[in-house]
Amino acid sequence: MDWKTKYASKVMSADEAVKLIQTGDTVVLAHAVAEPVALVDAMVANKNLYKDITVSHMVTLGKGEYAKPENSDVFRYEGWFTSPSVRNSIAEGHGDFVPVFFHEIPSLIRRDMLHVDVMMVTVTPPDEHGYCNVGVSSDYTMQSIKTARVVLAEVNDQVPTVFGNAYVHVDEIDAMVEFNRPLPEVKPAVIGPIEEAIGKNCASLIKDGDTLQLGIGAIPDAVLAQLGDKKNLGIHSEMIADGVVDLFEKGAIDCSQKGIDEGKIVVTFLMGTKKLYDWCDKNPMVELREVDYVNHPMTVCNLKNLVCINACVQIDFMGQIVSECIGTKQISGVGGQVDFIRGASMSKDGNAKAIIAMPSVTVKKDGSMISKVVPFIDHGAAVTTSRCDADYVVTEYGIAKLKGANLKERARQLINIAHPDFREELKEQFKARFNAEF
Ligand code: COA
Repeated sequence: MDWKTKYASKVMSADEAVKLIQTGDTVVLAHAVAEPVALVDAMVANKNLYKDITVSHMVTLGKGEYAKPENSDVFRYEGWFTSPSVRNSIAEGHGDFVPVFFHEIPSLIRRDMLHVDVMMVTVTPPDEHGYCNVGVSSDYTMQSIKTARVVLAEVNDQVPTVFGNAYVHVDEIDAMVEFNRPLPEVKPAVIGPIEEAIGKNCASLIKDGDTLQLGIGAIPDAVLAQLGDKKNLGIHSEMIADGVVDLFEKGAIDCSQKGIDEGKIVVTFLMGTKKLYDWCDKNPMVELREVDYVNHPMTVCNLKNLVCINACVQIDFMGQIVSECIGTKQISGVGGQVDFIRGASMSKDGNAKAIIAMPSVTVKKDGSMISKVVPFIDHGAAVTTSRCDADYVVTEYGIAKLKGANLKERARQLINIAHPDFREELKEQFKARFNAEF
C-alpha cells in the first residue's frame, strides 16, 4: 500500500481517535505550542470510555481539564514541568510532579522509567515522501513516538516545517485527525525599565562571537534587545522566542563561532508568535533536535564561549537557586536550567558563563514587594541549581560572581545587588547568619 492510501485509511475524527486509549494507559502530550488541543479535548469529553488514565507532559498552554478535580475520577496529572492551568492539582493532592532534568526525559522513556502508552502529537500534513514534521517541538516527542503503543496525531497545515530531527513517517502514526488552526502564540514580555537594566547588565557579560542559551520567562527577550550591536553571535538553546528573530534581523546572529553545529541555530522547541513560526519554516539556518542532544551537558560543554541566561524565584545567601517552587508549591520545573548550567561548568574552552538573571523583587498584586535575595530559602522549596553550580547572578542593580567565592563573599555580593529597600534588613540577617560584620 502506498503512503497516501495508508494516510487516507488513518484519517478520522478526534472522538474516533481517542477510542484507541485503554484503561490504565499513560497518555503523553507533545508540549507547549505542540499540544494537540482537539485530541486533548476529545480525550476529556470521552472520559466515560476509560478509567485510570495518567497524563504527562512538560509545558502546557492548554486548559488542562484533565487536571481539574471534577475529572480526577478518570485522569491523574503527573507533570514533568508544570504550568498555570494544571499546577493546582498537585497542591490539591490528585496531581503529582516528577522532578527530572529535561535532557534525561528521552532516556527515561527508553528505559521505561517514564512510561508512555499513548503519544499525542501535532504535525504538518505529509510531504511528497509521506513524512510529517513535528515543527515546533522535537524534545521528547520523537522518542515518545518510537516508544508508544499508539500515536495519535493532529495534522495542522499551519505547523511550520523545521529541519532537523523532526520528521515522522505516516507509517509511525495510528490516527490522523485533520485540524487546521493557528498555533498558540506567546507574546513577547513587556520590557520595562527594570528588565531593560537587567538586560544591560547581562549584555555587559556578552561579547561578539559568544553562543547564547536563553531560558523561559520575561528576561531573555530583555537581554536580546540589548545585543543589537553585537556580531557573530550563536544560538544553541532549549527554546527560542521572537527575540531571536529580531536579533537575527539586526545582523547580530550568524552562528559562525559556536564550535559545534556552526551556521545553525539549534533548538529543541519553539514558543513565540506566528512571526517566529513563519521565520523557522523551511529555514536552513534553524535545526530542531531532540532534547537529549540539545540540552545534554556533554553537548553543551562543547559550545564555544557559551553564555546561559536563566531566571529564578529566589536565591539564598549561599547561592542556592530556587527556580521552580514557591515554598512547597511547584510552579514550573527544572526544565533545562541545570542541563545548561552543568554543561557550562564542564565547558571545554573554560569560557562559559552561567547567568541567573532576575528582578531584585517580586511585586505582589497588592503592591507589596518580596526580596528574591533571602538568607534562607522558603520552607519546602526545592533547590534547582546547587550553590556549587551557581556562577553569575544579575539584577537591575548589578552583577554578583559567585563561582569561586566563599559563603560570606557570596552573601555580601548578593546583598549588594538586592533591592535597596531590603539591604539593611539583609545585612542584619547576614550578621546573624555568619556571626560576622557585613
Ligand atoms: N516569592 C514569591 N513569589 C514569587 C517569587 C518569590 N521570590 N518569585 C516569583 N514569584 C511568583 C511571581 O509573583 C509570579 O506569580 P504569578 O504567576 O501569580 O504572577 C510567579 O512566581 C512567576 O514569576 P515570574 O517572575 O512572573 O516568572 P517568569 O515567567 O519570569 O519565570 C521562572 C521565572 C523562574 C519561574 C522560570 O524561569 C522557570 O520556571 N525557570 C525554571 C526552568 C528553567 O529555567 N528553564 C530554562 C530553560 S527553558
